[in-house]
Amino acid sequence: MSDFYTIGIETSCDDSCVAILKNERDLIVNLISSQIDIHTLFGGVVPEIASRKHLEAINPLIEKALTDAKLSYSDIDLVSVTKGPGLMGSLLVGISAGKALSLAANKPMIGANHMEGHICANYLAHKDLEPPFVTLVVSGGHTYLVKVKSYTDYEVIGKTRDDAAGESYDKVARKMGLGYPGGPKIDKLAKEGNPKSVDFPRVMLEKDSYDFSFSGLKTAVINYIHQMEQKNIDFNKADIAASFQDAVVDVLVDKSMRLIKESGYDKLALSGGVAANSRLRGRLEEACRENDIKFYYPHIELCTDNAAMIAMTGYLHYQAGEVSDKFMKVYPNLEI
Ligand code: KG4
Ligand code: ZN
Repeated sequence: MSDFYTIGIETSCDDSCVAILKNERDLIVNLISSQIDIHTLFGGVVPEIASRKHLEAINPLIEKALTDAKLSYSDIDLVSVTKGPGLMGSLLVGISAGKALSLAANKPMIGANHMEGHICANYLAHKDLEPPFVTLVVSGGHTYLVKVKSYTDYEVIGKTRDDAAGESYDKVARKMGLGYPGGPKIDKLAKEGNPKSVDFPRVMLEKDSYDFSFSGLKTAVINYIHQMEQKNIDFNKADIAASFQDAVVDVLVDKSMRLIKESGYDKLALSGGVAANSRLRGRLEEACRENDIKFYYPHIELCTDNAAMIAMTGYLHYQAGEVSDKFMKVYPNLEI
């Protein structure tokens, strides 16, 4: 049988990404054109600039992906493109490119859910991973605890009621003048700090709840910094970073472990941009070892936004018999 090639296109936020997947899990090309340099100047993503940059980047990136894979348009069997959630203008660029490719090559198209994509990144990193498992999805805009029942069947058990985990990292980092995106900067700085120096709140919500709330913690950190500044007291940024990070990680680990035990599953997968966090990985790894749970997480380049995960998601839905039509819309607020 001849090989099956899926091209993935991802433009939901500030990275233009194109990837090519061969057959089931063989990632042969994974390209990212980052816009971080320009958004850093503004301290966060500027939607108008993001969509304009995607427009410049996407077609050359598709050409390069095909050249790198030594394929032509006619070799592509499936086009998978992010339909949401994300920034409206950015999503529209990707989806237009996906539709053009699908129509020109006369090949089927799938509109993929970006958050589901983050989960599916784990299949690329771990060829043996199969559902069912529990996953903690932590990104810049979303926090979810999900039961993955099959390759296309998900049950959301908990989600954030306000700020996402990554968003709280970004906002605290901004307050500390560390720049954008804040997650990796806090992760690095926290390694030099004492996580016990400030006792920030661990918001667990109701006793049985699997939901999250990080906005109170963010406010507590910002207030603490204000107070120190007003009283002219010197504070150690690394200690604040470490104390903040442990407050986030304690909550994420507590709820994830509670769900995995309650579910009866024996696998936990971590996904989304915050899955790159060294403290979160380390703590979950340890908790899983102690409880005899297999722990999975993707390589760093598959944690943050990429098109490989979108190709993977599209492939799975196509295998399940789905196809999107050429009138497909974008869904900026799409949920899992
Ligand atoms: O999944 P992602 O690339 O984009 C969204 O779909 O939102 O996630 C981006 C988020 C940002 O908030 C960023 O600060 C965070 O992931 N992040 C991290 C780390 N690397 C990226 N947060 C904590 N530690 C990291 N090492
Ligand atoms: Zn993402």
